[in-house]
Amino acid sequence: MDPSSQEQPKKRDGFTSNLGVLAATLGSAVGLGNIWKFPSLTGMNGGAAFLIVYLASTLLVGLPAMIAELTLGRAARANAVDAMVKLNPDKRKPWWLVAAAGVLAAFLIMAFYTEVAAWVFAYIFKSIGGGILSTDPAVTSKAFTDLITNPLQSLVWQWVVLAMITVIIIKGVSKGIERTTRRLMPILFFILIAICIRSLTLPGASQGLAFLFKPDFSKITAPVLLTAVGLSFFKLSTGMGTMITYGSYFREDQNIAGTAARVMLADLLVSILAGIAIFPAVFAFGFQPDAGPSLLFITIPSVFASMPFGGVFMVLFFILAAIAATGAMLSLLEVPVAFLEERFKVSRSRATISVSVLLALFGATAALSNSTLANVSIMGKNFFDLYDFISSNLLLPLGGMFITIFVGWVWGFGKVHETLSNNGTLSTRSVNKALFFIIRFVTPVLLFVVLLSGLKIINF
Ligand code: TRP
Repeated sequence: MDPSSQEQPKKRDGFTSNLGVLAATLGSAVGLGNIWKFPSLTGMNGGAAFLIVYLASTLLVGLPAMIAELTLGRAARANAVDAMVKLNPDKRKPWWLVAAAGVLAAFLIMAFYTEVAAWVFAYIFKSIGGGILSTDPAVTSKAFTDLITNPLQSLVWQWVVLAMITVIIIKGVSKGIERTTRRLMPILFFILIAICIRSLTLPGASQGLAFLFKPDFSKITAPVLLTAVGLSFFKLSTGMGTMITYGSYFREDQNIAGTAARVMLADLLVSILAGIAIFPAVFAFGFQPDAGPSLLFITIPSVFASMPFGGVFMVLFFILAAIAATGAMLSLLEVPVAFLEERFKVSRSRATISVSVLLALFGATAALSNSTLANVSIMGKNFFDLYDFISSNLLLPLGGMFITIFVGWVWGFGKVHETLSNNGTLSTRSVNKALFFIIRFVTPVLLFVVLLSGLKIINF
């Protein structure tokens, strides 16, 4: 063997196939956002009218921001912070701070996201045991309250979830993230379609479909618009360097914009199918569609309890939610891990374990926010709501705004086009021009408005 080869830097791990890239990136996008946020927001904001506004937001904000991030990552081939350092033409300007805020956001999101995932995993076992199968919402409501106010259960389930994600991340990008999501994504679609068929074949299902697909535009107010923009953003995992990190694992010949568009469409399909799985059943048994976040843990069990074979479908439903949450958590954890590993040259396992231990301690504040720490209130919120608020209303729009400003105004069209066209091999100049226009003028402005309204600086 050539002795000089030992001095060469170790080949960077990355995704190995087109399908793998799709599975991993879709795995990141599809998450509790589809199963938890999307149906409850659609339910609360007028059904199909919300869907249309959400689609427009995705085209103007979510998708362009996602492509901007993926492009930066692939061009730099580095973790989010180093990517910003590498690509910044003027080293005196601290653009890396944007990515550093992203690493912080990953922590905050993980803290509450792992807790919702913890409830989902706990519910798989509770639904197998049959304890939550009751048509009476008072019973399912009590079961949920018992879980979230029990400090030991909240904490242990969160740590179980975290340990599982840690093991997968230690295995690496191709052997851990790619392999896991490639196996899980087909199962997710399979379960989702099975539940849709069950829901649609219930007598009275059509009312739920009308709710989902018949637009009521009187419901579209300015706050609803902003909610849709925020969701389009959270859904595609943008604003904090997740997509920079994943973009850095894309292959050289990967069509970035095409992949992003496919992921966006598949993610939208999952959201709509989740709506089809839920609303016809909700209406068929006379439940309210606008229960908000408790839709998932209180309404859904009662709905399933009301239908034939409901017990089986409820288990399937929570497995589905658990799969969705897993791919998203992998992508969230990968951001700080890749940063530690590359910046401080520590081994992958050491980087992962350090981040996870920190997260287990920090996340405990979210896990205990309905029990031991229920009396702690900061800005009128418990820790769980506070982390959700700071990340969704502040860090994500801020991050997305600065990232798109960086791409549109500092990095420039030349670099964007070079990366998106794979050095001229793809003839997509006019598409890239339109995209660049949106990234430059539209996305940051809309995100700025979302930011101001999230901070209550402007009120509609
Ligand atoms: N997109 C995921 C969901 O819908 C959540 C998620 C994963 C995320 N990674 C992210 C959100 C990064 C914001 C930023 O559930």
